Amino acid sequence: MTPLHAVPGDAPQPSRSGSLTQVRVEAPGKVNLFLSAGAPGADGYHPLTTVFQAVRLIETVTARRQAADLHGTITLTLTEPDPSVPTDATNLAVRAAALLAEATGVNDGVDLLLRKRVPVAGGMAGGSADAAATLVACNTLWGTGLSQAELVGLAAELGADVPFPLRGATAVGHGRGDRLTPLIARGTYHWVFATAAQGLSTPAVFRRFDEIAPAPAAPVDVPAALTTALRDGDTAALAACLHNDLQAAVLDLRPQLTEVIELAESAGALRAIVSGAGPTIAALAPDPAVAVRVANALNASDLVAGALRADAPVAGARMVG
Ligand code: C5P
Repeated sequence: MTPLHAVPGDAPQPSRSGSLTQVRVEAPGKVNLFLSAGAPGADGYHPLTTVFQAVRLIETVTARRQAADLHGTITLTLTEPDPSVPTDATNLAVRAAALLAEATGVNDGVDLLLRKRVPVAGGMAGGSADAAATLVACNTLWGTGLSQAELVGLAAELGADVPFPLRGATAVGHGRGDRLTPLIARGTYHWVFATAAQGLSTPAVFRRFDEIAPAPAAPVDVPAALTTALRDGDTAALAACLHNDLQAAVLDLRPQLTEVIELAESAGALRAIVSGAGPTIAALAPDPAVAVRVANALNASDLVAGALRADAPVAGARMVG
């Protein structure tokens, strides 16, 4: 990895080891409005064309300067401990802080406090949002002053889904899903996310995708009808364009999710699909009142762990407080 240095002319940043004692950053989860996957390349990754939308399920990372005796370590604490989220060096937020420290030659260490609101291992890139928020928070706390473009470069090293929560809003992803182009989207979209008690592993879903049928070498392009629907703010037209190539693999691994999709649609959702690599089901409602009805129907059933309402699109990682 090439070491990065502060870029002159960027927005003013506190000097290295400056006076800030803590920095709080929020970053959003995502839903894939469209996902087409081609056959895996030599690196094992599937070439994608995908459309991400950032949703108002918000992860919050507070990066705090360390006491002198701990200097140089990176620690992570969850506001609500969850056995399915590791807090050691394997956590993507810890890896993000370590990568930024390595890239900039900083050795200050940091205590990270993480408040999670995106379903864990749910196909909504919650861990990626944590990593994106950590990059922004530590870049400010440490006064390393990397530009947004440089942070996006580090984000792509951490995982295919990490660049998007830095940018937020609505964007097309190419390559591994990490090469982003913004899309114009008008209006507000009302989503209901049906969560599962047990997450799914993204590599396992891609493996099943390969087993079900050989994919074409290249993914297909984003349909013009989808970009038009977004530009017009036309929820019904967008609903008709929702598509996820990974859906068959996810439903094969979790057949009961078919009932969740049917229930959401019978309660008034325009469409319900698997979010990303699942197992969260994303249901698009025509308005907030129907979203409440869909969430109530899902919560009243014994098919899901919970139902979360969230509007979209929202901004990418940003400092708060
Ligand atoms: O990049 P990330 O760590 O999020 O990817 C997790 C795994 O998901 C990869 O190791 C790969 O097995 C699979 N993947 C893929 N094609 C993509 C993105 C992820 O096969 N475009």
